[in-house]
Order: sequence, then C-alpha cells, then structure tokens
Amino acid sequence: MTGRISCKMVAAYLREIGIDYIPVPLRGPSSEAAGSAAKEEPDSPAAKPAVSPRKEREPHGGETLEEIRQELIACRGCPLCSGRRTVVFGVGNPHARLMFVGEGPGEEEDRQGEPFVGAAGKRLNRWIARIGLKREDVYIANIVKCRPPGNRAPLPAEAASCLPYLKRQIRTIRPEVLCTLGAVALQYLLDTNEKITRVRGRWRVFDGVPMLPTYHPAFILRNQAREHEVFDDFDLLAERLRLK
Ligand code: URA
Repeated sequence: MTGRISCKMVAAYLREIGIDYIPVPLRGPSSEAAGSAAKEEPDSPAAKPAVSPRKEREPHGGETLEEIRQELIACRGCPLCSGRRTVVFGVGNPHARLMFVGEGPGEEEDRQGEPFVGAAGKRLNRWIARIGLKREDVYIANIVKCRPPGNRAPLPAEAASCLPYLKRQIRTIRPEVLCTLGAVALQYLLDTNEKITRVRGRWRVFDGVPMLPTYHPAFILRNQAREHEVFDDFDLLAERLRLK
C-alpha cells in the first residue's frame, strides 16, 4: 500500500462512524490570533464534508451560552466597552444548524441588545425565510459585541479581544454550517485579506465547521443588483443543510 492517509480521509471516516466534532482546547484572548483556527477547504464538490443528519446536541464547548454571556457582560477587554449601551451577545436557537456571523452592532442593535434588528436585519430575515427557515431557527452573532463608534468597522485589536467569545459561542452551539456576512466578518474570522467579491459562495472551514462567506445585507441594501449572488449563496447553504 503506497497511498498516504490524509486528514480529509480521517475526517470522512470519523464522520462515517458518527463523530462529527472533536473539541480543541481554547486559547486565551491574549495569545489568540484572529482566525487562527481557520483553514481553507478546496472548492471541488468531492472535497466538501458530508452534512451529518440533525441530532439533538448537548452544549459542546463544556459551557452554556448563558455562562459565556455572563462573562461577556462584564467584559472590559477593549475600549468599545466604554461606549456601549448594551452588550449584543447573539440571538437564536442554541441548537441551530446554521449560524450567521456579522460585523458588530449598529445603533439600533446597541439600543435593543440584539444583532441585526435594523434594516440590514430585516433583509437578513428575508434571506433566511427564502430557504424555509425562521430567524428563531438560526443563531446570529457578530465579531464584536459592543458598538464601534459611528458604526465604523471594528479595529484589529477590538476584534482580537472579542473573537474568543465568538469562538466559544460557535463551539457551544456547534452549528453544522457557518455563514459570514460581509468582508469584515470574513477577514477577522479567517484571518485573511481576501476580497469578499472573490471568496463569496466558496466553502471554507472554520474550526471544523463548513463556512460560507456571503455579502453583508447592508451592502446589498446599497447594491441591490447584487442580491442574486446572495440568493445563490443561500441556495448553497440550503443544499448543504438538505433543506431542499
Ligand atoms: N450589522 C452587523 O454586522 N451586525 C449587526 O448586528 C447589525 C448590523
């Protein structure tokens, strides 16, 4: 026998025998480089991981979302904490099969304490409905949990400080599929400078979870003619989750 056993073959075998997730110890915020757990997945269909059938899952990160939330509301890890009204932790089904990651709270989100409640959120809700799900079925979170002033993009230090919380959310929810919304979420989660226009609709893997980057709904509100690309991306999500 001359062939080498690749990680992909091992992963496929583990999936076949019912193991679809292997926990990896978390590193602390200070040592954690943004997106260090990320790696690229080839775009060829044969390389895509199979979707495991829906099972009831226990919180997998060894902690509950509420425990993470309690820690986060006391967070003073970066200067954004001084301007916040609320910590916008995340919302949705703790057992969601599909989890979205946006950039950071805007004014309305900061006021209400919930991600994607403004105009961009309404557009996101429409996309979710398009694949036969409701907002309550999925989980929605952001790279940073406190509103950046003037709705600017989070700075690298702010994202680096907040990312460990998001990673813990992802490990606790253990979605079958992640979808990043917009360039900022893509860049910070995968630690990449790749252009969203180039990588949207192409599968990646984040921390063992298949991840699809697509456009941010706020971008689509300003560039309506590109929404068909998001529809294509959501079709890919639906396909992988076997919603169709
Ligand atoms: N934009 C984001 O990226 N996140 C929100 O929560 C709202 C708008």
